[in-house]
Amino acid sequence: MRILTGIQPSGTLHIGNYFGAIKPAVELQARGDAFYFIADYHSMTTLTDPAKRRENVLNVALDFLACGLDPARSVFWVQSAVPEVCELTWLLGTVAPMGLIERAHSYKDKLARGFSPSFGLFAYPVLMAADILLFNSNIVPVGRDQKQHVEITRDIAIKFNLAYGEVFTVPEPEIREDAATVPGLDGQKMSKSYGNTIDIFGDEKAMRKKIMGIVMDSRTPQEPKPDADKNLAVQLLRLFAPAGVAKDTEERLRAGGLGYGDLKKTLFGHYWDYFAAARAKRAELAANLDYVNKVLADGAARARTVASPILKKAREACGL
Ligand code: ADP
Ligand code: TRP
Repeated sequence: MRILTGIQPSGTLHIGNYFGAIKPAVELQARGDAFYFIADYHSMTTLTDPAKRRENVLNVALDFLACGLDPARSVFWVQSAVPEVCELTWLLGTVAPMGLIERAHSYKDKLARGFSPSFGLFAYPVLMAADILLFNSNIVPVGRDQKQHVEITRDIAIKFNLAYGEVFTVPEPEIREDAATVPGLDGQKMSKSYGNTIDIFGDEKAMRKKIMGIVMDSRTPQEPKPDADKNLAVQLLRLFAPAGVAKDTEERLRAGGLGYGDLKKTLFGHYWDYFAAARAKRAELAANLDYVNKVLADGAARARTVASPILKKAREACGL
């Protein structure tokens, strides 16, 4: 079974990305052949600063490896190092129905957020289909926001196979409902675009300040909090504190007597401990960039070995 997913190098990764995308991807390495890449071609639809792109690509590579991506087991590369994906984007684009691409909500969402409309932003789902189909992927783990793109990929694969013969595997999306939406510092979905993130590998002082600055309500510490299960710190503790801590904290809040200052201190402590091993690993990797670049170069070579015959088959099927 082949599992494939991509992550855009569009900013600093936060704990929503970790629990929603990275952790599931790392766990899936045990279930099949994992193919994971950094989607730098995709990032061009919203980011135009070349230095920033290079910096982000390196940071995502360090983050992913530090969090447990095992290059001995999985193929890990930067999308643009396998440019075959661009050729496949064209082949697929010629069978992708206009109406299907026009229905993609991510394009409308991006315009609503102020990005300027471009052909690339519009055609993004076709590039994503090429990412997936170029490797005959079976399973595509993604967040809920990406489900429609995997459905579009399925439609494009079926269309192509109907037109030119059985070339592509039709993939399935896999959505983890348990960590589907990690809340941010303001209680809304955590997202780079909302400025409410807790970075996975943030600076200690800055992260402590962010967490201690979470606004709760004005009830006194002694007051019982019957709605303790909805408290943001309790929700986050469920993700990264050892079993029992979130439940115990929730009960102390419910009974009254636990102040929000102490609660946030506990939250910071568990956040900091949870990522301690990964943080040490990341520092080690950052001091050894030759190794990281070699992992990515080897990954690109392995990815090309898999992609080339599939692209060749598609070209021949089309009469090219
Ligand atoms: P952002 O919203 O910060 O721009 P992206 O859209 O780049 O994040 O998402 C990258 C990956 O992380 C996707 O698979 C997405 O589903 C997941 N993800 C992002 N934010 C969250 C969140 N708050 N909770 C769970 N998963 C998330
Ligand atoms: N579009 C995805 C996102 O923004 C990233 C991505 C690009 C991807 N190509 C992919 C995810 C292929 C899964 C499969 O999060």
